[in-house]
Amino acid sequence: MTKPLRWGILATGKIAGVFARDLAGSRTGRLVAVGSRSAESARRFADEHGIAPAHAHGSYEALLADPEVDAVYISTPHPQHEEWAIKAATAGKHILCEKPLAPDLASARRVVEAARAQGVLLMEAFMYRCHPQTIRVVQLIRAGVLGKVGLVQAAFSFNTPFDPDSRIWNNALGGGGILDVGGYPVSWARLVAGAVEGHPFLDPVHISSAGVRHPQTGVDAYAAATLSFGNDVIAQVSCGVGLTQENVVRIYGSEGWLLVPSPYVVTRDLSPTTLLLHRAGAAAPEEIVVTPDRPLYAYEADAFADALAAGLRDVPAMSTADTLGNMAVLDTWLRQVGVVYAHAISPASPLA
Ligand SMILES: NC(=O)c1ccc[n+]([C@@H]2O[C@H](COP(=O)([O-])OP(=O)(O)OC[C@H]3O[C@@H](n4cnc5c(N)ncnc54)[C@H](OP(=O)(O)O)[C@@H]3O)[C@@H](O)[C@H]2O)c1
Repeated sequence: MTKPLRWGILATGKIAGVFARDLAGSRTGRLVAVGSRSAESARRFADEHGIAPAHAHGSYEALLADPEVDAVYISTPHPQHEEWAIKAATAGKHILCEKPLAPDLASARRVVEAARAQGVLLMEAFMYRCHPQTIRVVQLIRAGVLGKVGLVQAAFSFNTPFDPDSRIWNNALGGGGILDVGGYPVSWARLVAGAVEGHPFLDPVHISSAGVRHPQTGVDAYAAATLSFGNDVIAQVSCGVGLTQENVVRIYGSEGWLLVPSPYVVTRDLSPTTLLLHRAGAAAPEEIVVTPDRPLYAYEADAFADALAAGLRDVPAMSTADTLGNMAVLDTWLRQVGVVYAHAISPASPLA
């Protein structure tokens, strides 16, 4: 039996707790360490998730210096991803970094280059890509079940009360819907457009967007975009942190359409998930049931460990090229909506 991959978690926020819980259900991973800006948070997190006290670190630097850690999961707010991913690469740790990999394309490129230069594996944590439901959707498209695919509609949006200090609404913490959840519908659209060609993804050739910004912090409250792909696939994507939407994916083809009712956080437990295939002319949709054998984030941890064990330079479910293509769309979407982040304004910038 191969040795388990030894994980350290960098930052102890909400999603870090979910990842830690699910990692316990993975085939390949073991949680051995945590790092927090506060020693007390690190201790609390370690107690909760069975990490030995000696590996509860009161700084991110100490986590990265821990020789027992093979891979780190970075779960800080977005603007801190670049700094800690590059430091993790320099420390020789493999990196699973929360989405978005960075707040903009240039910053994401620097992370990818650092990982390459240090020879460590890097994956942006789009967990849904590793789930069997997503793999099933790709199979259906490739098998031509929908005929010629022409349109994808994908949304990920929620409404959370305005709080200028929260990571969701704060400008300096990279707030707004496009960076927080917009990457999900965009990545679904690129996945489907690519599947039509038998490729892992495809990048759009044209993007046209609109959005509404919060008057106080300037981040996008909700936004929509139309993406056109070179193979005649069109996608309508939308997202938000200040609007309630139907968070589903619909894929339309010449022979029918597919509804993915739970496309992102597929299931929170091991319950089955159902795709609805509407064949043209049929009275009722066919139910395609997918039953997971692991929790959602365990699939992600296992995809990462499998790629590492196979000596791959990328995790096939979410390669770094895929990440950079997604980031390029998010950059354009943000620019068209007029979102300007404080972190992007350097003294040399004409916006300063
Ligand atoms: N894949 C998913 O399903 C999913 C779901 C939710 C969020 N996310 C992503 O995960 C990241 C974190 O989201 P979250 O909801 O877990 O956030 P959160 O609850 O606010 O936690 C973020 C953590 O980052 C650390 N941190 C470092 N610098 C910080 C700063 N300047 N301000 C505040 N916190 C700081 C803190 O941990 P310490 O105090 O321990 O240092 C904090 O607890 C985001 O990039 C988000 O996009 C992914």
